[in-house]
Amino acid sequence: MPDINRLQPVPESTDDTKRPPGDGPDPDPMMPDTNRLQPVPESTDDTKRPPGDGPDPDPTMPDTKRWKWDDRERYESKLKSIEAGCNQYEQKLMGGIVNTTNISPNYSDIHINRTVIDQLERVTALALNRPDAFQYGVLRRNKVTGALLYGPPGTGKTLLARGLAKQSGFLMLEVTGADIFQKCWGEPEKYIKAAFTLARKLSPCILFIDEADGIFGARKSGDRKHQRGMLNQFLLEWDGMGSSMDSPFLLLSTNRPFDLDPAVLRRAPVHIHIDIPTVHQRQGILQLLLKHEDLGPDINLPILARLTPSYTGSDLKNLCVTAALACVETEVPDPVTGEYPSRRTLQRRHFNFALKSVRATTLNPKQLSQLDAFHRRAGG
Ligand SMILES: Nc1ncnc2c1ncn2[C@@H]1O[C@H](COP(=O)(O)OP(=O)(O)OP(=O)(O)O)[C@@H](O)[C@H]1O
Ligand SMILES: [Mg+2]
Repeated sequence: MPDINRLQPVPESTDDTKRPPGDGPDPDPMMPDTNRLQPVPESTDDTKRPPGDGPDPDPTMPDTKRWKWDDRERYESKLKSIEAGCNQYEQKLMGGIVNTTNISPNYSDIHINRTVIDQLERVTALALNRPDAFQYGVLRRNKVTGALLYGPPGTGKTLLARGLAKQSGFLMLEVTGADIFQKCWGEPEKYIKAAFTLARKLSPCILFIDEADGIFGARKSGDRKHQRGMLNQFLLEWDGMGSSMDSPFLLLSTNRPFDLDPAVLRRAPVHIHIDIPTVHQRQGILQLLLKHEDLGPDINLPILARLTPSYTGSDLKNLCVTAALACVETEVPDPVTGEYPSRRTLQRRHFNFALKSVRATTLNPKQLSQLDAFHRRAGG
């Protein structure tokens, strides 16, 4: 365990995420020292726009079929009428409809490269807004019906998909690989079919398969029969959608893309990589995570970002939660009123404590090289 009081920020590097925290003589890493550490310069390749800056609606895209999320009544009555016409399998999956009228995240809760959002929006909007364009001619057999989000664990893939649900105006039905295994034990094929039929009823709809490697693992000779059956059924349903007007768009997410069956990768030809955040992105994520906290004058987020190389968004969240809990634990009530302060103030020492216990989640070398190889094959 490195001595946190000796931790020194890692020098600026474009490839900072791969570097371990350095060890140095500086007694307090959170103390800004402008001679040693310059503010992070604006990068040209990421986060050019502020995180809360959602996309401007594309005026060329008709939005007549999209939901107006503020029209809650219409949304709820539509779901009720759909539920009434659902079979038992579809009804069990209805819990997976991402309810964007409540607390779902939107893009302002995610700090992510803007081009990733643009790419994701473009591919889903094209398929769901203009199904008519895929009814004839050269596009008839060439509709992009799916996309894959992949990257290391904790990098915000699920968060991004839910943000897309909130901001795209399309309904989203979320099913995880584990769901299909657990809820649907014994009759997974029926649930798989139901996922597609329900998604059609919700049209225009994004069918989001989280932890897709759970269902879409490559077929191997040693697989259990039902596992292969599930995958085959899924592919059958997927192909069966053809380019019909109400077919859903399939969005898959995984941190093990190299485990996916090639047949799945062919059907989801758009592969979107979400990597471990850069130092600039870490700073943005920290800003988002701490936006409702009071920070002491000794907190310097650019420095904290530099002290956390290889940390994913999820690691940063754990770091902030640990720091906030440490703060609460050390709060003392006012000796006169007996009351605790109405708001906490996070200080440098809380983060120094958190940095000791929350480390970057590291993939094992084999997983890293598999992910790397997949990324290179995908043209990244
Ligand atoms: N880019 C980000 N911006 C803001 N918060 C983030 C970001 N990435 C991760 N987080 C935080 O980490 C949490 C976990 O992220 P999420 O579950 O989306 O990761 P994931 O990529 O889906 O991981 P896994 O591959 O394990 O499923 C989020 O709820 C959020 O608090
Ligand atoms: Mg996830």
